[in-house]
Amino acid sequence: MADFVIRMFYSGEFHPFRLPVPGLWLDVFQKIRSAGYTGVSFYVDWALHEGQPGKFEADGVFAWEPFFDAARKAGIYLLARPGPYINAEVSGGGYPGWLQRLKGHPRTADEDYIAASDLYAKSIGAIIAKAQITNGGPIILFQPENEYSGAVKGFPFPDPKYFQQVIDQFRRAGIVVPFVSNDASNGGRNAPGQPAAVDIYGHDGYPLGFDCAQPNVWPPNKLPTDWRSKHLQQSPTTPFSIIEFQGGAFDPWGGPGFDKCLSLVNHEFERVFYKNIFSFGVTIFNIYMTYGGTNWGNLGHAGGYTSYDYGAMIAEDRNVFREKYSEAKLEANFIVASPSYLTAEPQIVNDSSIYYVNNKKLTSTLLKGNKTQYLIVRHKDYSSSDSNSFLVTVPNTSAGEVTIPQGGVYLVLNGRDSKTLVFDYEMNKILILYSTAEVFTWKEYNGKTILVVYSGPNEQHEMAVALSNGSELPKALLGSGISAAGVDGYTILSWKTSNEDRALQLGPLTIYFVDRNSAYKHWVIDIPRDPKQLAPYTNEAERSLIIKGGYLIRSATISQNGDTLNIVGDTDSTTPLKIIGGAPPKLKTLTFNGQPLKFAQDSNTIVTTTVPYTAPKISLPDLNALTWYYTDSLPEIQSKYSDAQWSKADYPKTDNTLRNITTPTSLYGSEYGFHAGALVYRGHFQGIGNESTLYLQAAGGSAFGMSAFLDDQHIGSFVGYDSASIGNSTFDLPKVTPGLHVLTVVVDNMGLQENWIVGEDEMKTPRGILDYKLDQRPKEDITWKLTGNYGGEAHIDKARGPLNEGGLWAERQGYHLPSPPIEDWKKSKPTDGIAKAGIAWYVTSFDLNMPNGFDIPLSFRFTNSSTPYEAGPAHAYRVNLYVNGWQFGKYVNNIGPQTKFPVPEGIWNYHGKNWVAMSLWALDPWGARLKDVKLVAGPAVQTGYGRVQMVDSPKFSQRPSVY
Ligand code: GAL
Repeated sequence: MADFVIRMFYSGEFHPFRLPVPGLWLDVFQKIRSAGYTGVSFYVDWALHEGQPGKFEADGVFAWEPFFDAARKAGIYLLARPGPYINAEVSGGGYPGWLQRLKGHPRTADEDYIAASDLYAKSIGAIIAKAQITNGGPIILFQPENEYSGAVKGFPFPDPKYFQQVIDQFRRAGIVVPFVSNDASNGGRNAPGQPAAVDIYGHDGYPLGFDCAQPNVWPPNKLPTDWRSKHLQQSPTTPFSIIEFQGGAFDPWGGPGFDKCLSLVNHEFERVFYKNIFSFGVTIFNIYMTYGGTNWGNLGHAGGYTSYDYGAMIAEDRNVFREKYSEAKLEANFIVASPSYLTAEPQIVNDSSIYYVNNKKLTSTLLKGNKTQYLIVRHKDYSSSDSNSFLVTVPNTSAGEVTIPQGGVYLVLNGRDSKTLVFDYEMNKILILYSTAEVFTWKEYNGKTILVVYSGPNEQHEMAVALSNGSELPKALLGSGISAAGVDGYTILSWKTSNEDRALQLGPLTIYFVDRNSAYKHWVIDIPRDPKQLAPYTNEAERSLIIKGGYLIRSATISQNGDTLNIVGDTDSTTPLKIIGGAPPKLKTLTFNGQPLKFAQDSNTIVTTTVPYTAPKISLPDLNALTWYYTDSLPEIQSKYSDAQWSKADYPKTDNTLRNITTPTSLYGSEYGFHAGALVYRGHFQGIGNESTLYLQAAGGSAFGMSAFLDDQHIGSFVGYDSASIGNSTFDLPKVTPGLHVLTVVVDNMGLQENWIVGEDEMKTPRGILDYKLDQRPKEDITWKLTGNYGGEAHIDKARGPLNEGGLWAERQGYHLPSPPIEDWKKSKPTDGIAKAGIAWYVTSFDLNMPNGFDIPLSFRFTNSSTPYEAGPAHAYRVNLYVNGWQFGKYVNNIGPQTKFPVPEGIWNYHGKNWVAMSLWALDPWGARLKDVKLVAGPAVQTGYGRVQMVDSPKFSQRPSVY
């Protein structure tokens, strides 16, 4: 049995509900684990589990057990964060739409709120409880509530009675692991000692915020500096915990796009900001988001679009080509390889620049452990792009005060960089007195230690090793250019960064000196004791391999007799592979993804080989060349249409406490059980003949749209813009003849608001028609009916959950599902479009025959037509996109920014038939057609991951009494 080693909870946030393919969860876990992380934090979205009050459902893609199993397989510990309030840029902040009817205030001790959340808390609590570490599962931490940190003025807050009730709900459900909090700023709320306290106080931080418009600008004073001192005031007895730290940013409708967020929160941000967090001695650390995913099927709030890529280290289509993935891997591996960091105390001094570094433009924090000390150096102006040179002085090392480099050449800190220097760094029995180059990892194998250090371009470095009193000079194993000298009983090594890997051997120690780009290619892969398991937790590894490879290494196993090593990973090109640590000494067989490879092994057990890559042939259909079937999706405006089955909008008051009604009856969608997607209204009235205008006030959340029709005539649309969540429109009417008329109004619902500020009850912000006025007529003269998704809260598509469908006619029929009855439909394509305002529906199907053994992301790409290529000033249309019945995109041509919509394998059938459906809602009188839509493939990554299990995607069947 290896010793039990405590590791930092170094975690990435990942929401499985934003990747509704359980067969891909292990993929994401492995990518996080291979970056050196030990944990993952996840939210649970209540709205997806209790679409109908009183009916908790967690089956199919909504089941949690497969997620917990995948975490265990990847060797990942979990922090569970089921809310009930989560924020998370999801509709209602996780609250089901029916909470809009609550009399009381959500997130308070109001009895009806607590009662409403009981079933959810009990049910999800029990599911999580079963997977706690005490039951052999991966869950080690639990967070009740989320950012319970702000309320409207005068509101009793923070209310210990409420917070305690949430704690009690989950403890009653069987949660025994420690409770953590996620305070929105370091205000000490609910910290131990406070009434209604968690076990471990934690807070979050998004120093650069969420405006990605100027990705190169790091504004002044955004780097946290006092978090350690605050922590000591607020929760000195608990580990310093950052439950969410900025890992990217969300982006609103009309925003600059996630490419910009990726540039803003990039690898340099990680270097400067994460290391700054290490300088506070963080030991529970979670990065939000680490894999963002997709707001499919209306699950997002109105403030965001379909993609939730977040500019995270793992892209929405799960690729890890981003440099920030590699940089994060370097930092996490260092922390995990350095257990003494966990107990090192940050030294709080007023001006650290005078203590440790001799350049006033730099500053540093020293963390002092029992023996080891860590010095984190950064630019005082943290956004500086200058290179600054410096010497470091650290008192009280085992050799007394040291000033380094001793060679006299100055160290360099390049712009937007930060470094961790180590002093008295212990690797079991070997001591490094200091290293100015950063440690990637080290491992000991049968008395021999491998250490890998890395450095940036044009830097000079020095290391002092305490071995054989400095008398033995090292032997060069690889490359040249490292100078060595015995000084005062230490071997002093000095070098300048080179793009050639170099290695030296000094007695039992082998040191690899690599530049950062080479370090990026290195992987530390833990090998499980039990070869049937994929990966152990970091603290339980049998041993670890250090591999220089390529794109991704996922896992490795060694056969029982020890002569066969199997590596599983992904390559994007023919890749040299070198195992510099941990290969069994007399290796007989080496396989990569099951294929035996020819290899060489030297006397130091180093294995070299090459993993071949063969580019696959990919053939994708040209969407424009396919046969598409078209049906009108707005039959509601036809005189023969019957709305007999529709809900009467006859509630003469409202249960919504946020906004009173200004109409004779309530027209709020959620009052009638419709919480997601488009709402459709029919208003019946007897025309007199003198009506000339219709005023409509409609609400759908940011970037929503609305179209209105008098009988079968379009009278106008509110085409929407990024920040408008309410639209006021007055439309001229065509001649109204005496007699019966029908107004049809379609209002898009972009998702419900979140509910951050307690007492503001923002999630209750209604959706639908707020007010109207037919001129010359009292409001009572119109009798309204409405519909949303088929079945409302009693939604019938259990596989895709309560939010996937909206209220468009074709959605209500189920025509977004595979195999709709297209026999009698016209042949017409979305690029043909329609010539007047209305809603068109298009369906096509085709086979995919994607190569086996590759991970090839597929996306739809729309071509924006904001420059009108047809008559008219703007081109206002919106598209809902469905693949095999799953809504995986909402494209709004006149608002944007998203034009590319990735859809994961598993939703796609990569080896068979697929159905694609699209609504095309033309808001302009001249109609709309798509300029172009293409299916595009991302880079073909050869993978050992294996076949991805398709999700269950039930096909179309005639719905009873559909209307
Ligand atoms: C945090 C919140 C998360 C998420 C994040 C921004 O404050 O806890 O749920 O909303 O902000 O992406």
